[in-house]
Amino acid sequence: MAIQRTFSILKPDATRRNLTGAINARFEENGLRIVAQKRIHMTRAQAEKFYEVHSERPFFGELVDFMISEPVVVQVLEGENAVAKNREIMGATNPADADEGTIRKDFALSIGENSVHGSDSDENAAIEIKHFFKDEEIVG
Ligand code: CMP
Repeated sequence: MAIQRTFSILKPDATRRNLTGAINARFEENGLRIVAQKRIHMTRAQAEKFYEVHSERPFFGELVDFMISEPVVVQVLEGENAVAKNREIMGATNPADADEGTIRKDFALSIGENSVHGSDSDENAAIEIKHFFKDEEIVG
């Protein structure tokens, strides 16, 4: 498997609890490099666009309200098999289902306040990265 890039968000429950370093240590310890990163306060328009695929889901309003409630860290992770590796390190969406030692098992508060987002495919990673970064801002 070649070197890949994937998109990652440290969500408001993580920034609020000062967990960005602890969470990013998990990525780095597992061989992923942070090749782009910024702390932003998402606008409602940005959050609605980013999560557009979930717009018909009953939790959409709650999801958008949460994502704009506090700052987030948006970042690009790079490494061998980065999309799958990031998902493995994060654990299942619902922390109640997450494996021991994963970020969501150790830090997430609920299925909504689940500390991190990660792209689910190579194709979506490329799309999601473009929501927040220009090519020249990725300096791997
Ligand atoms: P994420 O990987 O950011 O992609 C969509 C998000 O929707 C997901 O993580 C969860 O945080 C959130 N989500 C999924 N299901 C629910 C739910 N039932 N209630 C609230 N939020 C949810």
